[in-house]
Amino acid sequence: MKNTLRLFFYCYLITSFITCKNHQQNFQTSIIPQPVEIRFNKGTFNFNQDTKLICEDKSLDFSAQYAAALWEPIHGYKPDVEQKIGSESKNSIAFRLLENPEMEIGNEGYILEINSEKAVLSANTPAGILYGIQTITQLMDSENIRVLPSCFIKDYPRFAWRGLHLDVSRHFMPLEFMYKLMDYMAMHKLNVFHWHLVDDQGWRLEIKKYPKLTGVGAWRVDMLHLHWNERPLINDTENASYGGFYTQDEIRALVAYADERNITVVPEIEMPAHVMSALAAYPELSCTGENLGVPPGGVWPITHIYCAGKDETFTFLENVLLEVMDLFPSEYIHIGGDEADKTNWRSCTKCQARIKNENLADEDGLQSYFIQRIERFLNEHGRKIIGWDEILEGGLAPNASVMSWRGEQGGIEAAKMGHHVVMTPGSHCYFDHYQGDPAIEPLAIGGNTTLKKVYNYEPIPTELTAEEAKLVLGAQANVWTEYMPTKAHVEYMVFPRLAAMAEVVWSPKETRNWADFSRRMEHQYRRYKRLGINYSQSAFQVSVKPEVNPTNRSLVLSLITEVNDSKIRYTLDGSIPGSNSPMYKRPVEINESATLKVAVFLNGISTNQILERSFDLHKAFATEVELQYPTSTKYDGTGAYSLVDGISGSKHFNDGFWKGFLGDDMIATIRFQKLTDISSIEVDALQNYASWIFLPEKVVFEVSEDGSSFRKLDEIATDIPQDEKGKLIKHYKTTQSAENITAIRVSMKNPGTCPPGHSGEGQKSWLFVSEIIVR
Ligand code: ACM
Ligand code: ZN
Repeated sequence: MKNTLRLFFYCYLITSFITCKNHQQNFQTSIIPQPVEIRFNKGTFNFNQDTKLICEDKSLDFSAQYAAALWEPIHGYKPDVEQKIGSESKNSIAFRLLENPEMEIGNEGYILEINSEKAVLSANTPAGILYGIQTITQLMDSENIRVLPSCFIKDYPRFAWRGLHLDVSRHFMPLEFMYKLMDYMAMHKLNVFHWHLVDDQGWRLEIKKYPKLTGVGAWRVDMLHLHWNERPLINDTENASYGGFYTQDEIRALVAYADERNITVVPEIEMPAHVMSALAAYPELSCTGENLGVPPGGVWPITHIYCAGKDETFTFLENVLLEVMDLFPSEYIHIGGDEADKTNWRSCTKCQARIKNENLADEDGLQSYFIQRIERFLNEHGRKIIGWDEILEGGLAPNASVMSWRGEQGGIEAAKMGHHVVMTPGSHCYFDHYQGDPAIEPLAIGGNTTLKKVYNYEPIPTELTAEEAKLVLGAQANVWTEYMPTKAHVEYMVFPRLAAMAEVVWSPKETRNWADFSRRMEHQYRRYKRLGINYSQSAFQVSVKPEVNPTNRSLVLSLITEVNDSKIRYTLDGSIPGSNSPMYKRPVEINESATLKVAVFLNGISTNQILERSFDLHKAFATEVELQYPTSTKYDGTGAYSLVDGISGSKHFNDGFWKGFLGDDMIATIRFQKLTDISSIEVDALQNYASWIFLPEKVVFEVSEDGSSFRKLDEIATDIPQDEKGKLIKHYKTTQSAENITAIRVSMKNPGTCPPGHSGEGQKSWLFVSEIIVR
């Protein structure tokens, strides 16, 4: 980040008496992120063909041209720009640098005054003008493009680091998409682009001294037909034809373009792990010297890493970093540091010699040595390092900043030690997570990070004192692209969640208001559409919260959407909800099997994010279930009645309907209120090899007449191998009947451990079960 940026970060803190007044009279704006202060006055300013953009300072030339270019597609003509110093003109929008800096708005804030004759946008810096232009654009792009409200807006960001990260290693993204992304970041008033240029599956930046990094390391075999985690570690039988990289000239041009938009590009050069692409080019830099090539998919654990015992590794990295520093003026260089598995370091004589000679405690100490040595080199060249929170292990480098991703703990710890931190916890900031129901979303890595969840993120952990909180530079959205092969898919995952993140990092905490954000988002979706962004409408999905009512033997279905005041229509007969279907007003109670379909209507039109769920109110529905071994608290389905709630899980283990047993069997006893005849019992189980979930070895069905002694009714062995890949659901059903019974017992034998050759070989396996159906 630029020095000045950080300096002004302290200014915001000094002026932290944030006044947020949003005196909305008859005008509703839809500015995102929400400005600090808006006051509306009487009247409007009418933007027309004669409206001139007045550039009052030579250094604002770019700003004025930028505004004209931004507004051309909205209005259908490009407004004229005039250079004019000092004199006020009617029917103009003037861009002005303040002669006496206004401390409160800092280095990135602006003041916008609009009356019926003219508009004046003033700021301390061109960056402030840039953000004021975004606000004017959104005022135009709200209700009526030609009518701007008379108003006074004072606005400045809450945090100095407002970031977006993009992994271009797992899937290469074309250069022209990077340019678009810079425009979209500026639109959202974000200012740090964290460019993840290095990872196992591809090295993406040209390094002149080491041409094989891109000659070899930028190319891999693609195996799109296989799940990322089910691809082999090595594929040396096919041509490594997938990939790409950015030349140094291309990088320089992009960095300059970003800079014009007040965006600092922070490059990430991973070390010591996530570097198989580099080791494919220069295998001598690893402990073993083996050439494993560039892997076509997931790598776990990450053991093939740089050797920390060889001086050649550091010479190589220093040479790489010299070229990186030449390309990226950013004060910070991200050095990665995450997820290094130190197995090879343990058996490497050079690494062990380094531990001994440097008096290091262990391999964690060696990682700390590695990072500190790189830090010293970068500090000597006037740069700072930032790394993922693993750089805390074994001792944090003295001047390092920490990016907290495995929750907030790393950030808290680093801030308490006096280090700067950027918050990016996976729970709220990982945009590779699902944003809606996995059953209808494109494949994602997992998780559940909805628009509202991002919106409700608070970057300052409550554990920090006010003094420590000042070390939190800001927050950032991270976009890992294992499951995003195209730019359209990246857009889908980024938008609209980036709008929520923008408000988290820009707007005062006190102004956060989900209902108002939901309303403003309606305009934002329209803006995305106009820009041709492939945004997601997942926030309009409905989720169903079923609750068993054992007294009535009924299922009570609550329908929930994140978006406020959404119009939900539903059917129970399997038909697609239309504009005449019943409007959802209160929970719907059903006492017989049904198929529910639900849609949200926006401006009278279905968003087509249709929820469909079948409910099977069978003989054991709403009966109490005793479990011999408890389920995991993380995967507990819908709770106590989950195995008999009438709902079968989808192929997505985290859809909320599966119960998970880690290493344990599932042994469930169901007791009936009265003597019961049965004709079949059926139970389901999931297999998801990549997620360590396996079918049971066998299922045993038993019945009891007296409730204490059970006799075996049937036994079904699994006929699917444990290493069958993909996601599959198996139904185990017995049609052996029984009469006058009081209880049944279903036992499912967990294989206990992951099979040989699996990434979790020998470790506990998961058994997932969603429903026991009795007829
Ligand atoms: C990370 O997600 N491995 C930083
Ligand atoms: Zn080594």
